[in-house]
Amino acid sequence: MTRREPLRPVAYDDRRDLVRLLDQRRLPAEETWLELSTAGEVAEAIRTLAVRGAPAIGVAAAYGVAVEARRGAGGARLREAAALLARARPTAVNLAWAVRRISGLIEAGPEALLAEAHAIRDEDEAACRRMGALGAPLLPRGATVLTHCNAGALATAGYGTALGVIRAAHEAGNPVKVLAGETRPFFQGARLTAWELHRDQIPVTVLTDGMAGWLMQRGEIQCVVVGADRIVANGDVANKIGTYGLAVLASHHGIPFYVAAPWSTVDLETATGAGIPIEERPSDEVVLIGDRRIAPEGVLARYPAFDVTPAALVTAIVTERGLVRPVGEAALRALAPR
Ligand code: MRU
Repeated sequence: MTRREPLRPVAYDDRRDLVRLLDQRRLPAEETWLELSTAGEVAEAIRTLAVRGAPAIGVAAAYGVAVEARRGAGGARLREAAALLARARPTAVNLAWAVRRISGLIEAGPEALLAEAHAIRDEDEAACRRMGALGAPLLPRGATVLTHCNAGALATAGYGTALGVIRAAHEAGNPVKVLAGETRPFFQGARLTAWELHRDQIPVTVLTDGMAGWLMQRGEIQCVVVGADRIVANGDVANKIGTYGLAVLASHHGIPFYVAAPWSTVDLETATGAGIPIEERPSDEVVLIGDRRIAPEGVLARYPAFDVTPAALVTAIVTERGLVRPVGEAALRALAPR
């Protein structure tokens, strides 16, 4: 079996000073890399989901500040660039976290900024691998695991959070099978999760978003593993719209529901899920599939891009700092860096 190169969707070309992003809007049909030279272009790539997934947008934003600095922008322009990047999407706290972290080095100069962006990237991949090691033993041997959206290598610096746990189980010889909910309307599950697992020869089958309950009732799903965009102090978890429904179903059927996320996703300053800003995206992203309109002209769609799963529905959270179980403020704060 040929081993594929590890998938890393965000890169920096130090020689040409370009941020390189695997364009996730075009997968699985095409593997196209964008080459971006300004923070404005990186912010646009984040807004339009060319790069997406909480940790990946944080890494991309850090490179967005670094590329401006390396191309000669001074302090005031760098601060504007940082603010623009931080505003690109509201829910994933990793974005604000990465921008805050890199902004602390604006006075230190371009080399320091690029080194910090590389560090953010490297630490994220290391965190994913650690979550994989800690989370893999949670998956029963030969389990069928349901996941939602894409919390894989494509959503991170590499390896993935939820898919990192699945990858690590697979690498350890556990013959897990994955069900990927298609995740309308951007189809992160059908397009991205299926693409990256298939690429790595991990068995994956796609479900439409309404199928999970029935398969749970039939005993065909042994656990659910998803990623997160923000985990707040009481353990509530924001993730891709549809996650909450899966958590309710899992609870009803007595199926463990796991969340895997790096510490950069944890926001202890927000008390409960009610304080998480939920991104609303345009109606057209729901009613148009490509150029084809699927609802009558004149009818609008709602598109809250994320929902919040109450802590009580989450069996455990896997972080690189350890497992949070039972999920709640005490267990989260016990793992927090001092
Ligand atoms: O809108 P997206 O594709 O950026 O949403 C991504 C998710 O909801 C992921 O599950 C989450 O960011 C975790 S990624 C490791």
